[in-house]
Amino acid sequence: MVATVATGGQVLKVAQLADLQAKGVMNVSAGGHTLALFWHNEKVYAVDNRCPHMGFALHKGTVKDGILTCMWHYARFDLASGGTFDQWADDVPSFPVEVRNGEVWVDVAGRTDLINQQRQRLQEGLQRTISLVIAKAVIKLLNNGDDPKEAFRIGLNFGTQYRRNGWDMGLTIHTAMLNLLPYLAEEDKPRALYHGLAAVAQNTDGSPTRFIVRTLPGNTTDISTLKRWFRQFIEVRDNEGAERCVVSALRTSATRQEIADMLFAAATDHRYIDVGHPLDYTNKALEALDIAGWEHAEPVLTSLVRNYAQAERLEESNSWQNPVNLVVILDKVFADLPQALAEGQAKQGTWQGRTELANLILGDNAQASADGMLAALRNGCTEAELGGTVAYAAALRIARFHISNEFGDWNTAHHTFTFANAVHQGLRRAPSVELLRGAFDAAMSVYLDRFLNIPATKLPAPKETHPNPAGLLEELVTLLDKQQQVNQAADLAAQYLYSKGDPDALLAVLGKLLLREDRNFHVIQNLEAAFRQYSLLRNEPEGVHVLVATTRYLAAHSPTMRSQGQTYQIANRLARGEKLDEEE
Ligand code: FES
Repeated sequence: MVATVATGGQVLKVAQLADLQAKGVMNVSAGGHTLALFWHNEKVYAVDNRCPHMGFALHKGTVKDGILTCMWHYARFDLASGGTFDQWADDVPSFPVEVRNGEVWVDVAGRTDLINQQRQRLQEGLQRTISLVIAKAVIKLLNNGDDPKEAFRIGLNFGTQYRRNGWDMGLTIHTAMLNLLPYLAEEDKPRALYHGLAAVAQNTDGSPTRFIVRTLPGNTTDISTLKRWFRQFIEVRDNEGAERCVVSALRTSATRQEIADMLFAAATDHRYIDVGHPLDYTNKALEALDIAGWEHAEPVLTSLVRNYAQAERLEESNSWQNPVNLVVILDKVFADLPQALAEGQAKQGTWQGRTELANLILGDNAQASADGMLAALRNGCTEAELGGTVAYAAALRIARFHISNEFGDWNTAHHTFTFANAVHQGLRRAPSVELLRGAFDAAMSVYLDRFLNIPATKLPAPKETHPNPAGLLEELVTLLDKQQQVNQAADLAAQYLYSKGDPDALLAVLGKLLLREDRNFHVIQNLEAAFRQYSLLRNEPEGVHVLVATTRYLAAHSPTMRSQGQTYQIANRLARGEKLDEEE
């Protein structure tokens, strides 16, 4: 029997009052809800019967002094409002009750704005670093049609505000995960967002709030002056002076390209600072603004400044000066860059030397590598093509990385590759002579990493095609349940591609394999950079090599404990209405 009340809700008869009074508690179904009814202190209360924490039946809980306690993990709720006292659990929906002529009637119409409620819940999960709350909020938001960019914006704003030292690996993972979404299977998209948001929460946990410095009064200074001052202040490691330049530059009429150029110039004034992380962070921050909107530029771009100012400058390290002085080689090349670019201008669009130049960069002669790159520019190679060639050479280091190396050496090859990719993406966005120095830095780092290819692992070159490429993907999924499957995994990926398997399906499977593991900053960076490179190379043999490289890197770091995946799985099962307190 259904009745409608003046509030517009849906009021249903759910029980006889005498029955409820006799039993104290009842479990009833009404209007698609399962309700827990309580007779407590001479009043009737109705709440959703699923505990919002992990789904236990609340009618099995206890009520004392108006507080309902779930019997599984003891989350406590105000019986009247459903509000929880334990932030790791959610509020439980409560329903208005009327008693009419000895009958209990409940208004079961939903009253909450689910999207706003879950966005708020996501904020709370970030504030308290509760992964399960983050996972549940993300799943509900996406299941109810919210644009993933909204959750991304929430994480971006949170991460830039609540970490005093600014942009770091949390926001980098967060942005990388959003970049990966188009490559992933539909069911993996919320999981990717969850990983990114949980990484932001973890990376901000315990840090003081960050306050942005004010813009210069009047905003009369032009962008070229601000860029010059910015570089001077980074030179003397003055974070706040430099930050005031950035925030002021954003209030000028400078284009996005000019803003990017200002940051990239400072990030490449010294050699391969902090093994490439500040430049990679810059690239990611700019990508984050492309996704979230440039109205977020002030908190986002100012959060980068400390990374430039406080970085280790690799020209001060022994390996960049001895036995070969790479700094001297580079200084000379940098002086020649404007002229080489001017010479090559008329020939741009005709350069074909990627493979040959990549092999030179992978060789054991730093001077020849730098000279070859300069000659390429003179022959019409564009800034972006040069960046792409170095990124390809860096990927080949990983594709040929011999497993007899120490495990930690994977990081060395990885840092060069992600740096080279960031320089490449930066050159595609805002080409400049300054940022071009980064491509040469990356090439010198590829040179320094050459010991990782002694001996070099052979690139997979399957002789025959496989009749069932899809079966190879299934094998790959099983294979990475075991450690030390680096070469076997690469063989499967290469065989799949040579057998005309759909590359997009391989990318989706690699993404799935990444997401089922516990978060590893480098593996996430590596896969995302490789996907970027692959999307530009696609049907060329070099594209296969890049995917071989990242498959090997992923395999080297799999499997993990997968505990974060378990948290996500719990949230997912709850969203599907499964009972977690029953055996599967
Ligand atoms: S506290 Fe209720 S299911 Fe955990």
